[in-house]
Amino acid sequence: MKNDQQPQNQQELLQLSERENMKKVRQSLPIYKYREELLTLIRDNRVIVMVGETGSGKTTQVPQYLHEVGYTKIGRIGCTQPRRVAAMSVAARVSEEMGTKLGHEVGYSIRFEDCTSDKTVIKYMTDGMLLRELMMEPDLASYQVMIVDEAHERTLHTDILLSIIKDLSRARDDLKVIISSATIDAQRFSEYFDNCPIIKIPGRRFQVDIYYTKAPESDYIQAAVLTVLQIHVTQPKGDILVFLTGQEEIEAAEEMLTARTRGLGNKIGELLICPIYSSLPSDMQAKIFEPTPAGARKVVLSTNIAETSITIDNIIYVIDTGFAKQTSYNPRTGMESLIVTPISKASADQRAGRAGRVAPGKCFRMYTKWSFLNELDQNTIPEIQRTNLGSVVLMLKSMGINNLVNFDFMDSPPPEMIVKSLEQLYALGAINDEGDLTKLGRRMAEFPLDPFLSKMLVQSEYYKCVDQIITVCAMLSVGNTIFYRPNDKEKKIHADNARKAFFRPGGDHLALLNVYNSWADNGFSQNWCFENFIQIRSMRRARDVREQLILLCERVEIDVKDPSLSIFEDEMNTNICKCICSGFFYNAAKTNLNGTYKTLKNGHSITIHPSSLMFDIKPEWIVYNELVFTSKEYVRNVIEVKGEWLIEIAPHLYKEKDLLGDKRKMPKNTGTSDSRN
Ligand code: CDP
Ligand code: MG
Repeated sequence: MKNDQQPQNQQELLQLSERENMKKVRQSLPIYKYREELLTLIRDNRVIVMVGETGSGKTTQVPQYLHEVGYTKIGRIGCTQPRRVAAMSVAARVSEEMGTKLGHEVGYSIRFEDCTSDKTVIKYMTDGMLLRELMMEPDLASYQVMIVDEAHERTLHTDILLSIIKDLSRARDDLKVIISSATIDAQRFSEYFDNCPIIKIPGRRFQVDIYYTKAPESDYIQAAVLTVLQIHVTQPKGDILVFLTGQEEIEAAEEMLTARTRGLGNKIGELLICPIYSSLPSDMQAKIFEPTPAGARKVVLSTNIAETSITIDNIIYVIDTGFAKQTSYNPRTGMESLIVTPISKASADQRAGRAGRVAPGKCFRMYTKWSFLNELDQNTIPEIQRTNLGSVVLMLKSMGINNLVNFDFMDSPPPEMIVKSLEQLYALGAINDEGDLTKLGRRMAEFPLDPFLSKMLVQSEYYKCVDQIITVCAMLSVGNTIFYRPNDKEKKIHADNARKAFFRPGGDHLALLNVYNSWADNGFSQNWCFENFIQIRSMRRARDVREQLILLCERVEIDVKDPSLSIFEDEMNTNICKCICSGFFYNAAKTNLNGTYKTLKNGHSITIHPSSLMFDIKPEWIVYNELVFTSKEYVRNVIEVKGEWLIEIAPHLYKEKDLLGDKRKMPKNTGTSDSRN
């Protein structure tokens, strides 16, 4: 007979010692000393604010404490995260600590991926997913506790959640709400929640020495790479964390580091390079948490996800480039874009703090001290004040929240932003002139997508291309990570040729569709991807997203079955482009004949990104998906359209006389670009 106290074999002994070890690790976290105090405070209050240094155990431990004392006997514990990577990695960690299988007692839910089951009692999810759940379960009846984590990040979705939950907690006196934040700004959260109590978890934070550059760096990626190498050859052991702005920079830095260290051969210790960004597949994400082997040094190349959302142990050196990608929305032009922006002082301090968790550390800032003191804002502007509110307004309306002007926001968005989003929803046909949701709008709200995309998806039924548009949506949703472009010059030519082979007249979306269909025709083969310089991971993700979208379409009774067989390819391609146009007509532009384009809405000057297959073709009229700022204002994912389509699809925006009429009658404001003001 087996006896729990006396393990019989090696395997059990090992498991037991692992569990013992895990318990010790859990008890060594700063939050452990506050367990009782925390539980009492939660028992006695509906809402509390919890503040603590990153890595003190807020996210992983608090749900477990609540589970241990029985809260989950009544309902679930939910915990929101602004980032999908954090939701996934924290859920994996907690299920490991509890000795359960991920997706059973502990699970996560992120857009297009639900890793939970009926058994799930601790659920980590993105803030956006909780908003979606609120559409279906407005009183969150299945939850006993809701933790709004990383509240200091002030993402758009978190801000909206805060106001909905504030309202909800007045109606549901049994619901426990915990607002968790990494920074001192807790007072404001407390005031917002009727002066609720605050519990402070003092973290361990060792001294971190800050070093600045003497002069501004023209190339901060290169500067960061050189600093990594310098640390590696001159500094005592300890891992390095580098903050960059996005996947492209991270990949560039990774390649530079690989090339440089290869050249040095075995003169230096091994340098393990671990990238982390939100679209990185989960098996690769796990790598950053693996212990560094003796004699080696780990360098983690991260977006600002590692600023507070996730904690990597044993970081001694931080390299802060001083930038992050932020969405920025201009309500006047209606244009939204991701822009590399200087971080705030508060962010810079958070980043530096990551070096002092386990021992005294060093932070190397790739900017001058003067710049830190004089150029950085004190705090980051909440996202709600600088982003397109379209999708959120649509969601709120479908929850029956109509009066946005009097909505109790922690920080209100500028009124013109709300007006602009209503205007866009009206143009898309999602709301009527009373501001109420239309049938189309209600269907659009079912999709966890931008209103432009959901409009396109819903309209695909009319254009008889549902299956194709689902694929296009899925391919767009994995970001610009489909085509692999090696650094090697010769291979680059092969990769570009492979890419061009997917070209179809009409535009980039049709090429994406072609890539997906060819992959499917080749049995979803890995080898096929390799031969065509396609990233298999992105393709697999697109396939998953596609499946999710099919389910969502079925829910709003869009017939997914393929009626297109009777349609010729040319006609089908026209239908697909018209359908894309029906969602994205706001992003229409006409050629200036000098290589640039002028947007129809406001005469803004833009250029087709060289990665677009339309770059060489430069049709007269285009519709694009996204705008990116680098050296110029580039547009990516471009299709060719016709002026007549725009007039047909969006007659309230585009009039025949403006678009196609006699040039002499053209209104002045679509003439020259300096008439923008
Ligand atoms: O939420 P907070 O920043 O206060 O800390 P946490 O995320 O609960 O992390 C507590 C500890 O758990 C960290 O110091 C890590 O050592 C560990 N952890 C981990 O090993 N792997 C993860 N995916 C998350 C946390
Ligand atoms: Mg946390």
